[in-house]
Amino acid sequence: MTTIKPFPIEVRGSASRPLGMSPARFLRDYWQKRPLLIRQAFADFQLPLQPDDLAGLACEPAALARLIVHDAKRDRWHVNSGPLSEADFAKTPDSDWTLLVQDVDKWDADVAGLLQHFSFLPSWRVDDIMVSYAEPGGGVGAHIDQYDVFLLQGLGQRHWAISDDPLAPKAFRHDVELKQLAHFEPTHEWLLEPGDMLYLPPGVPHDGAAFGGPCMTFSVGMRAPSQAELTGDLADFIAEHLPEELRYADPDLTPARATGEIDRAAIERLKSALPFAAALREDMLHDWFGRFITRYRNAQLAAPLEKPLNDTALARQLAGGAHLLRHPWSRMAWIRRKSGCTLYVSGQAYPATPALAQQLCEQRELALERIPDAIENSLLLALVNDGHLLPRKSRRRR
Ligand code: SIN
Ligand code: CO
Repeated sequence: MTTIKPFPIEVRGSASRPLGMSPARFLRDYWQKRPLLIRQAFADFQLPLQPDDLAGLACEPAALARLIVHDAKRDRWHVNSGPLSEADFAKTPDSDWTLLVQDVDKWDADVAGLLQHFSFLPSWRVDDIMVSYAEPGGGVGAHIDQYDVFLLQGLGQRHWAISDDPLAPKAFRHDVELKQLAHFEPTHEWLLEPGDMLYLPPGVPHDGAAFGGPCMTFSVGMRAPSQAELTGDLADFIAEHLPEELRYADPDLTPARATGEIDRAAIERLKSALPFAAALREDMLHDWFGRFITRYRNAQLAAPLEKPLNDTALARQLAGGAHLLRHPWSRMAWIRRKSGCTLYVSGQAYPATPALAQQLCEQRELALERIPDAIENSLLLALVNDGHLLPRKSRRRR
């Protein structure tokens, strides 16, 4: 008895259903979830751009083009990121190379015309159509993309290997600038013909290489801003719209118990000044504010020692009565943790004990009256080596 798989990885398209199913079903079952190969998504596919036109476009100074040659014997990858010239193409070998041009839809109306088939997606989610030309064996190697992509085969055949194993290793090779995967074990392999289309959600390892002859692939790529990009831009946007006079304020201030401490009340005031920051994890908010406020309006920074001391050398100086003078530009503050505290100095964070952190904040010149413990020792050493504390022979009283 044959079992019907609920989500087949391979389907056949038709003129009325290029996805091999309704867009609603594709979005529900595959979009951002699992790969799908659609055989003959575009039957009788008419190539909207010839290889020579792509090469011509790649030589435009403003085009985003890369020529990638794989030295298969030594497994070396050569990437020429342009601007490309005819001479670059004249030097290409008979096989194992590819040309990739991004944003071809912006240059060529026929290529842009392909986008009408993707109108089931919000247009602002579509990034570009990248077009590649490759000679047999040519490709960019095994990698993952951070975006959904529809890989439409335009000319010739391409061998695709993918892994739909969610536990597939994602570490990069360090020797290649292409962010290729260090390990790749395909779970599926196919040979795509013109009109076939492979959909990949973000993060699926894949490797495509031209097979048998010249090959062109049209990649319709999506854009999904990272949370880091969204956050950075939102912060800039909010900042532009906030009036200067809205500032950190503390009309409820009471006399400080420990002058260097950023205490609970200060954090609560910060949360009311920044309502969206209240949603942050508390330790992240602390870590950001501690770094920010000790860097804020600092015109200069201490320079790290060119020759760092080791703990024996520092211990010897301290035992000889040396004082530790705070660098005039090193601003300090500390925040209590569940155990111990973090001392922030000019934007840097150091694990510390509240007693020593407070002493460092209070005293411009520190004379140790007791033997520091291990945390304190490594803190003092780090602060000395980062240039925030300068060991000085003690000044004798006359
Ligand atoms: C291609 O070489 O056309 C596609 C590259 C990719 O896998 O992102
Ligand atoms: Co890719």
